[in-house]
Amino acid sequence: MQPIALAVIGGTGVYNLATLDDVQTHQVETRFGTPSGPIRVGSLLGHRVAFLARHGEGHSLPPHKINYRANLAALQQIGAPRVLALNTVGGIGDAFGPRVLACPDQIIDYTWGRISTVCEEAGSEVLHVDFGHPYTPMLRSKILAAAKVTGVTVHDGGCYAATQGPRLETIAEIARLRRDGCDLVGMTGMPEAALARELGLDYACLAIVANWAAGCGDGEEITMAEVLSNVQAASNGLPELIGELARG
Ligand code: HPA
Repeated sequence: MQPIALAVIGGTGVYNLATLDDVQTHQVETRFGTPSGPIRVGSLLGHRVAFLARHGEGHSLPPHKINYRANLAALQQIGAPRVLALNTVGGIGDAFGPRVLACPDQIIDYTWGRISTVCEEAGSEVLHVDFGHPYTPMLRSKILAAAKVTGVTVHDGGCYAATQGPRLETIAEIARLRRDGCDLVGMTGMPEAALARELGLDYACLAIVANWAAGCGDGEEITMAEVLSNVQAASNGLPELIGELARG
């Protein structure tokens, strides 16, 4: 059987890849416990792609309860060499309005109390991985190239602020993130990216802007309906982009 070319982790509003054919379902157990749900492996434009819904298929897990370690270890166990993380986010910078797709190149971690390393257990080897470039540069380049080939507009770069959630931020918190240089804000980018690096997985993020962050844009109240409808609209070109990425 063909090896798995790519794993995709879906975020809020992306609970499956409807375009996967011949899907097999894997319930995987890992040394870190159980992932958010089953891993669906199928064929996308002729390439084997694995899909995992980060929050569970019924969106039952809040960001701070996700077993990020089990999710990544499970994808690694089934043979996925690289991970495309889809993250639903709020936009802070002017270039990051609702429905924009962006491939960030930096992260600031504002989360707390999450298990954020594979070195947590007593006796495990202590790792100090390089994380200067938190997303694998080569995978970022491939995402941008796949976007170009498939005619999907993806913003190159940006700084992702990982906040604790599950509540959205205050206007003052977003103003602070802006002063810190953040362009996007989401709740699940960390510790996922750092764990992928510790596990030796290539990993990059395609952020889907669902709303203006608090106090940005028109400053209107953020609703889940707005978030979901923008994610759906912005995701139209994703199957082709992901198929092209799996090819290369
Ligand atoms: N803030 C944090 N996470 C998010 C947002 C937001 O505005 N929108 C979607 N995920």
